[in-house]
Parts: sequence; structure tokens; C-alpha cells
Amino acid sequence: MENGHSQAFHRAPASVSPPTGFAQGQGSFSGMMAAGQTHARQGSMSLSPQSPPGSSTAAAVNGVLSARSRAVSIPGHSAAQVPKMLTPFDMGDIRILLLENVSQGAVDMLRQQGYQVDFHKGAWSEEELCEKIHNYHAIGIRSKTKLTAKVFRKAPKLLVVGCFCIGTNQVDLTAAAKAGVAVFNSPFANSRSVAELVIGEMIALSRQLVDRAAEMRTGEWNKVSKGCYEVRGKVLGIVGYGHIGSQLSVLAEAMGMSVIYHDVLPLMPLGSARQTESLNELLAHADFVTLHVPELPETKNMMGAAQLAQMKKGAYLLNNARGTVVDIPALIDSLQSGHLAGAAVDVYPREPKANAKDSFVDGLNGWESRLRACPNVILTPHIGGSTEEAQRMIGIEVANALIRYINYGGSVGSVNFPEVDLRVITEADSRVVRICYVHQNQPGSLRAINDILGSHNVDKQHTDSFKDVAYLMADISGVDDDDVRDLYDKITKTDANILTRLLS
Ligand SMILES: NC(=O)c1ccc[n+]([C@@H]2O[C@H](COP(=O)([O-])OP(=O)(O)OC[C@H]3O[C@@H](n4cnc5c(N)ncnc54)[C@H](O)[C@@H]3O)[C@@H](O)[C@H]2O)c1
Repeated sequence: MENGHSQAFHRAPASVSPPTGFAQGQGSFSGMMAAGQTHARQGSMSLSPQSPPGSSTAAAVNGVLSARSRAVSIPGHSAAQVPKMLTPFDMGDIRILLLENVSQGAVDMLRQQGYQVDFHKGAWSEEELCEKIHNYHAIGIRSKTKLTAKVFRKAPKLLVVGCFCIGTNQVDLTAAAKAGVAVFNSPFANSRSVAELVIGEMIALSRQLVDRAAEMRTGEWNKVSKGCYEVRGKVLGIVGYGHIGSQLSVLAEAMGMSVIYHDVLPLMPLGSARQTESLNELLAHADFVTLHVPELPETKNMMGAAQLAQMKKGAYLLNNARGTVVDIPALIDSLQSGHLAGAAVDVYPREPKANAKDSFVDGLNGWESRLRACPNVILTPHIGGSTEEAQRMIGIEVANALIRYINYGGSVGSVNFPEVDLRVITEADSRVVRICYVHQNQPGSLRAINDILGSHNVDKQHTDSFKDVAYLMADISGVDDDDVRDLYDKITKTDANILTRLLS
């Protein structure tokens, strides 16, 4: 099998806005006109010009069409259907830095692409990153490595960041976008882990398992059946029927529960579940209410005193979503009054920053000791998604996102970047070059690029903007080496250019 596609890319040495508040840009789908109607702020972040590794820019541009493509043979498929594998540079030239012991599966996937992967178990300091980041086209981190604006200024080759975790607070997302660097994470890889925990918690609550187990640890034998129930035949009310809520729906029905759910969107039910007209309707009917909504202004304290009072007497509340969704003092009142028969809480408005004894104390939120004293309450330290399987899935998902972006330019799923993609170039498409143009979202930027592309056959094109940064992907067919050089030179000289790559 041959490989060795090439990619030319060029990052503007010129002005890129500093990471101050973005103006809300106007996104557009395949919008040739959109950028002409949007605004950008000029700034002063300076980045050095760069050439593809191991070659001069011009040589890399020349290499675009001469690069050999890696054909995938799929029995029964004609060349018109077989996706052509696009990869940048000669294989082996892409260098990826993986820190914080990301999963071995991810390392293997990236090495299989022919990338040079440098793997380190620990996190790197800002100083260490500033010293060495200039060597890398991609970096993979977890939560401890901080990618600051200063780091991005020292990273002229960097194309993409993979956060092998859920959160992205450790990355200056604005600075990344303005440097033309897309950031990916894995928000949904642990959905199954959370759904399974909820099943376990429902059984534990309805059998008062945690209180009985705690008594046994102090030597107390307290065999009771009063107030203990099976979950079979009970009604589960799911608030937020997204990735976690819908998985849970299927698992709960398999145990003989009836499922109702409330969501702001009309969503197709799985199995025999039924969407309720309102949150109140769900609260009035559910024996278990479990929360799976995101943290938003609208979901802050969405379970307050009034909603808890709406719940059936003897019902249970479970919160594995976000700490701000439940008014915890109101929950404590409801448990102490005996209105609710129990609760499971995994997330809190303020959580300790690190594992430590005596860190979940009243100094944190002010009600910890009162909550701990409530009967039949399961308190866990935000472990809903913390499993070995979830870690593995995160590795696969983020590695896939890196490969997709590096090899094909697709940015769908990025947290800081316009989400753009194009359908595949097939083996039957001859002399097709893909242009990936990250640019400032400023008036006239699309007119400028379309003037350049106008004399070529644009097979397909998609552009969108996110705040100050816009991203255009275009497949141009029937191009020869001279055309490519010309296209590349002209595009990289546009005023709005942040980062241009050519893939074939
Ligand atoms: N405990 C943990 O360790 C852990 C792990 C993973 C996720 N989470 C949290 O779980 C929550 C759900 O995650 P997910 O992956 O299922 O998210 P998701 O985005 O797939 O689903 C969320 C659902 O909530 C709905 N929604 C939004 N606002 C709503 C509202 N006001 N009322 C009703 N429904 C509303 C959305 O339409 C969507 O269907 C998130 O807050 C996430 O941060 C916690």
C-alpha cells in the first residue's frame, strides 16, 4: 500500500487578534457571502511564518499533486465510491506530543497513521511547553497541562489540540482559535458509565443499601424490609433525554421500570418511554427523578423547593448532572421532613480541587455536614463518568478527531472553532486538492478567496464562522502543479489568512 500525501500549510505571520472578548460572528453554511457581513477585531499576536517540516513551503506546494495517494480497497466498491485517504505531508512528518499518560489505544491509533508520536506520562509546565512546542503539529493532554496564550504564541506548527477528557478549561480556547488551532474533547464517551451508576443508585436507594452497609461497618445488625422496594414496576422520570438520559431509559426498561422523560426538545422515545408535556407532569408521576441536563442559566436550581414539593411523597432524587441544578438546602429540608425517601448526589456547586481527607466540609458550600446527616443519601465525589472503559472510549474518540482534522480538515465536534466538513474525495476524483483556510472573520474575506478560486472548478465548498475566526473548506478539481502553487501563494497572502493547508 502506498502512502505519502502531501499538505502545504502556511500560518499568517501577520496580525491575529489577541484573546480579548470575541464579537459574535455570523455563521453561514456554504456561505460565499457571509464573511462580507461579519466583523473582526484586529490585534497584534505575532506568529512566525512556517514551512512544512522537512521541506520548503514551495517544495511542499509542488509536492501536493505529485504525492501518492493511499488507496483503500473495498471489495464490491468502484473507485467512485472508495474514499481517498488524504494525509498531509509525507507520512512520518506529522509530530504529535501526548502528555499525561493518555490511553494506549489512542497512541496506537495515531502511530498507525504514520505520525511520529512522543508519549510522556506526566504533564508539562508552561515553560517546558514554550521551549518544545514549536516541534509539534498536534498535542494531546488531559486536565493538568495548561495551554495558555503564551504557549500558542510559541507553537507555529500547531494545528490541533486533543483534550483526552471532558472539560476544556485548561486550554485558552480563544487564543487557540485565533492561532488557527482547533480543540477537540470527548464530552460523551462516559455516557454509559453514568447511566450504569444511576441504575446502581436507584437500587441502592430503594433498598436503603448505603445506610445498612454503614451500620454493619459499625457493628450494627439492622435487618429491615419496611420502606425497602424493588425497582421493577416503578416509574423513572428522566430530566434531560440526551446521551445519558436516553441510555438510561433503555437500561431501566430492561429492569421492568416505566420511563417518562422531560426535555426542552421534542425527542423520539426509545422503547416504551414517553415524553411528558412538562417538568411538573414528570415530577408528579415519577418514583425516581434523575437529572441529566447541562449546566445552563435555565437549569440553575431547576430543582428547588417548589419542584421538590411537586415530587411524590416517598420518591427519590438523583443528581449526576451538574451541582448547580439542585438547590441543595431545599433538598436537605425535603429529606429531613420525610417528603423524599432518599437522594443520590454526585455533583456539587463547589467541589474540592483535589482528592484529600476533610475536603468535603462546610467551608466549601456551607451545608456539607447537614447533607451528610440526612437519612438514605448516597454522596459520591463526581465519579459518574469515571471508569476504565470511559477512559478508553475517550482515547478512541479524541484520536479519531485528531486524525480527521489533520488528514481531512473536518472540524465537526471542535469546541472553539467553526464546525465545517466536506464529503469525501473518492479515488475516482482525479487531481483534486482540498483547501483548508482558517481565516479572520472579517468583511470581504470570502470575496477575496472566491476571487482566487473563481477561475477553478470548485467541486464543493463549506464555510462557517465562530466568533472572530472563520474556516473554509473547498475541493478544487482539475488542478495541476502550477495551479496549486498559484492558489497557495495567493490564499496565504490574503489579509484574513490565519492558517492555510492544502491536502491531496
Ligand atoms: N457525573 C458525572 O461524572 C458526569 C459525567 C458525564 C456527564 N455529566 C453531566 O451530565 C449532564 C448530561 O450529559 P449528556 O451527555 O447526557 O448531555 P446531552 O447534551 O447529551 O443531553 C442533555 C439533554 O438535556 C436537555 N436539556 C437542556 N436544557 C434542558 C432543560 N432546561 N430542561 C430539560 N431538558 C433540557 C437537552 O435538550 C439534551 O437533550 C451534563 O450536565 C454533563 O455535564 C456528568
